[in-house]
Amino acid sequence: MTAEFPVARPMRLRRTASMRRLVAGTRLHPAELVLPAFVKEGIAEPQAVSSMPGVFQHTRDSLRKAAHEAAEAGVGGLILFGIPAVKDARGSAGDDPEGIVQVALADVTSEVGDALVVMADTCLDEFTDHGHCGVLTPGGEVDNDATLERYASIAVAQARAGAHVIAPSGMMDGQVAAIRAALDAAGFAHLPILAYSAKFASSFYGPFREAAECAPQFGDRSSHQQDPAGHVGEALREVRLDLAEGADAVMVKPALAYLDILRQIRDTVQVPVAAYQVSGEYAMVEAAAANGWIDRDRMIMESLIAIRRAGADMILTYWATEVARKL
Ligand code: PBG
Repeated sequence: MTAEFPVARPMRLRRTASMRRLVAGTRLHPAELVLPAFVKEGIAEPQAVSSMPGVFQHTRDSLRKAAHEAAEAGVGGLILFGIPAVKDARGSAGDDPEGIVQVALADVTSEVGDALVVMADTCLDEFTDHGHCGVLTPGGEVDNDATLERYASIAVAQARAGAHVIAPSGMMDGQVAAIRAALDAAGFAHLPILAYSAKFASSFYGPFREAAECAPQFGDRSSHQQDPAGHVGEALREVRLDLAEGADAVMVKPALAYLDILRQIRDTVQVPVAAYQVSGEYAMVEAAAANGWIDRDRMIMESLIAIRRAGADMILTYWATEVARKL
């Protein structure tokens, strides 16, 4: 093609790999990845999660190893979920000093020292026999205010066990304030809270409920998690409330289907924003890859780049260690 005037050719900056690398607008770094990990009480061997190929329910030992590998790969953090041997209506294992999450937090923090930020997911669903994120009223509804007391106690137990960050995920109103007050009163004013602020009632959590054995025995979570069809202002309001209650960082969850929300939150707040690439996002890619339908590695990288570009300062992803090794 010839022209009398210079023709703009954006492709000049795309022709070679080195040029593309030079002008890239979005980069991933291992330090901004967080690995979600599951530990189960009373098992002798790690157990594969069938709907999440490559993800395991860990033993205390295999969890230590996974934490060590993540740290070695330069991953920034690990968030821990625990499955107790015994569940009851109030989730007693959640704040038992000998509960699985507490002993595993102590294991992991002693294993990795300060090489990883070790986070504790603070919720009740893994610990309750009914699988709900809170204690229930006699009528079977989640009792918001009674649940706050449980969250506060669980957060303090996790702090005593050595957690570096408390991450409340239950979407109860007032949960950040209740946890902040309890942590401060127990001598943990220095511990940050990463609030799952914009958490949607999502079908993308399906495989997690197998991994964490926490599917609700009846009903669902749509009375407290956000409606996917809700107004974006609702997500911004949840974020604002959590910050007013003392959250130090906020989270959007799931990630890929909510990138617009992520961008708006990033543009609105002055704290780190995390995005959780959840179990269903992981399972979709792994399942399609297992069928030979997609290029697994490229799709993983592309999805993470998209989440980063939409404004995530950190990304929780089950691929954290694998991806960190490649970066
Ligand atoms: C609640 C919790 C859930 C996830 C993280 N924390 C499940 C839920 O809300 O039903 C889902 C994470 C994922 O799907 O990967 N403790």
